[in-house]
Amino acid sequence: MRILMTGAAGKVGTLLRPRLAREGRTLRLSDLVPLDPGPGEEAMVADLTDEPAMAEAMKGVDAVIHLGGQSREHPWADIVQANVNGTQVLLEAARQEGVRQVVMMGSHHAAGFHTRPPAGADLPDYAFPRPDTFYGVSKVVMEALGSLYHDRFGMNVTVIRLGTCNEASADTRGLATWISPDDCARLLEAALTAPGYHVVWGVSDNTRRWWSLEEGRAIGYVSEDDSEAHAARLIAGQGEPDLSEPLHDRAGGVFTLQELGGSW
Ligand SMILES: NC(=O)c1ccc[n+]([C@@H]2O[C@H](COP(=O)([O-])OP(=O)(O)OC[C@H]3O[C@@H](n4cnc5c(N)ncnc54)[C@H](O)[C@@H]3O)[C@@H](O)[C@H]2O)c1
Repeated sequence: MRILMTGAAGKVGTLLRPRLAREGRTLRLSDLVPLDPGPGEEAMVADLTDEPAMAEAMKGVDAVIHLGGQSREHPWADIVQANVNGTQVLLEAARQEGVRQVVMMGSHHAAGFHTRPPAGADLPDYAFPRPDTFYGVSKVVMEALGSLYHDRFGMNVTVIRLGTCNEASADTRGLATWISPDDCARLLEAALTAPGYHVVWGVSDNTRRWWSLEEGRAIGYVSEDDSEAHAARLIAGQGEPDLSEPLHDRAGGVFTLQELGGSW
């Protein structure tokens, strides 16, 4: 089985590569920058918006993990080119090559202006888009493109509204929004076999989580990690989070406060 991973040189791709390695599986890594393939890997340079390059990247592929594009806020034109046009070119190349399974890294910033529900409740799966940035808008479009390619062409597509993926939660906001790299790989493995179209929150089963895991669980994701393991250290350094602050109250945190179209 061959899986194309776009944006493989990035932070998430680097965390996931070793975790997705399997006997009998080839990871085809693609990015704007050259990569050194390890055992069970192939690598190629391909711009997501370059149709011939993406057609080439898709040859012999069984499934796609789409991580490439602008991963933070940028001017509108840059966001549209990499994230909107890039995702459409990718999906069209997958369709033309007959690839049936696509998993795309969306973002919680597609729903960044949603606020914390009352204690004990979760922000539901498929919460209506409330993007917090141009970047968030592009992730809403990614969800819409995935839906289109599912409904029109029967492609199985899962879009992950990813929280904050790193080895250890770096701040107290992450106590709610963190997803461990191991859980991220577990969620991707589930999405790689899920039939249909899904939008799932990408979060670990954190004690302080407030994003639903129902849809993730429905496709077979079982989180094994909890950011509470980092809570004492983080709270000792940063204090107990004030949940009424936008940083903690809004799904998109600080993105909801920053200038639109800024490069940061
Ligand atoms: N890191 C997180 O916690 C997080 C949170 C939410 C969503 N996401 C999403 O997950 C994905 C991966 O995030 P990341 O943190 O690894 O991002 P990153 O910026 O580290 O990596 C993105 C990669 O995409 C590549 N890229 C950019 N434009 C491209 C183009 N036109 N053609 C081909 N490749 C291109 C870049 O070279 C880079 O290697 C992104 O879609 C991001 O929006 C990440």
